[in-house]
Amino acid sequence: MKSIQSNIKKAKKYLDKNQCIAVPTETVYGLAGNAYSDIAVKKIFKLKRRPINNPLIVHYYDVNKLKKDCHININFNKLYKKFSPGPITFVLKLKKSSKISKFVTNKQHSLAVRFPKNVLLRKLLKQLDYPLAAPSANISSRLSSVQASDVVEEFGSKIKYVLDGGKCRIGIESTIVNLLKKPEILRLGGLDISKIEKILQKKILIKNNSKKNISPGQFPLHYSPGIPLRMNAKKPYRGEAFVLVKKRKISFKNYYYLSKKNNLKQSAKNLYSLLRKIKNDGYKLIAVEKVRNKGIGRTINDRLNRASKY
Ligand code: TXA
Ligand code: MG
Repeated sequence: MKSIQSNIKKAKKYLDKNQCIAVPTETVYGLAGNAYSDIAVKKIFKLKRRPINNPLIVHYYDVNKLKKDCHININFNKLYKKFSPGPITFVLKLKKSSKISKFVTNKQHSLAVRFPKNVLLRKLLKQLDYPLAAPSANISSRLSSVQASDVVEEFGSKIKYVLDGGKCRIGIESTIVNLLKKPEILRLGGLDISKIEKILQKKILIKNNSKKNISPGQFPLHYSPGIPLRMNAKKPYRGEAFVLVKKRKISFKNYYYLSKKNNLKQSAKNLYSLLRKIKNDGYKLIAVEKVRNKGIGRTINDRLNRASKY
């Protein structure tokens, strides 16, 4: 308990000085900085090698803190009440009086906001006078980090501090819903969209990201382990690591299990760390068995599909 307090204190000290640190969330680790500070936000873009026209998600403790920066609406209220804190990100209209750094949004008038559930991060957010801008803690286009050691692998000593919250419970990024007009899904994620549809009582369109739009998945290659990946494989070819979701009678050295019982939640949780492990084990090619395209399985397939654009 005492060490938790002192770690949070340490994290706050770095953030108050406009430094970037890594923080745990229930989805993936974030590379966080003071969202009101141009200095801190510019550091995030630089460290991550992120194109400046790709806006960041801002993390809040609760809706009361959010109201200073964004206009909220009925759809937001319904979804917030049901799913926050949790793996859902809302795109809302930015208030003119907001103090959010213009670098967060690339001068756009909308803001992506999220209320993470991780207990450590919530304790930290509660103590800050500002919200945290935090993209996933990885070099742009690479695999997201789901544990402290992944962050260190990505950034080495360039990152001042990692608030270690263990392995992320969900392991895949938040679902992004645009609430500026008629709700639409901008990115599949950790929250099943059928649950969102149930609360809003309507079907929601999943936006196909056109090249013109600066929104999630604009960049064809994303979530990449840095080596070629092949989806829906029935068997591995020579030199491939084989990623499976169901237990085989006979397993070989190159067989890696996301799940042994075709459990989609477990597969999502293991996805990024397993791909990272395969690469670190020295493989140059990856084949992945077909993953059921249902619930969070759709999100897994979305990520695999982007990773396969290598
Ligand atoms: O689970 C998550 O969402 C994690 C954790 C750390 O919170 N964050 C995350 O951030 O995945 P990032 O930066 O890797 O992905 C955020 C996505 C980007 O694709 C960006 O284009 C989109 O959100 N985005 C940010 N602001 C937006 C806005 N105002 N309108 C539309 N899309 C936006
Ligand atoms: Mg990311």
